[in-house]
Amino acid sequence: MLRNRVFAWHRELQDVHHRLEKALEDARRAIRSGERAQSLKPELRDFCYTFCSALGSHHRSEDSDFFPALLQQMPELEPTIARLGREHEVLARLLADFQASLDDSQSSPQRLFRQINDIKAAMKAHFGFEEGSLNRALRALDVPKSDRNRMFGDV
Ligand SMILES: [Fe+2]
Ligand SMILES: [Fe+2]
Repeated sequence: MLRNRVFAWHRELQDVHHRLEKALEDARRAIRSGERAQSLKPELRDFCYTFCSALGSHHRSEDSDFFPALLQQMPELEPTIARLGREHEVLARLLADFQASLDDSQSSPQRLFRQINDIKAAMKAHFGFEEGSLNRALRALDVPKSDRNRMFGDV
């Protein structure tokens, strides 16, 4: 009876990650399509800003709301959450560097492409570890569905 009322948080997390992977691929494709140019056109750049803001929002929400909610119910997850938090910091630095390049209209598409490929590799590894290590905990998490955006960001 109770199970039916528990939101499928593990599936929701995978869905959010898939949407972020799609946004990243849109950004990569936009950069690629401008590869022969000296710098990236503003309309292509927009795909990159969209992706950066979505990933930033997701990680900030996980840090501020999702991880604390998990720890409150399952304190034994502390080492896992600590590792995930460190990975967020690495990704935040990569995103900040990428955004600085985006803000510089002289950045070549080749440079942007290298940077987004680094983000892709780090993000893929992070999502894989996060989904794998939290899968069981997410199935047991007792938090109302209405908290979804607060926990995962508006993605
Ligand atoms: Fe994360
Ligand atoms: Fe995540």
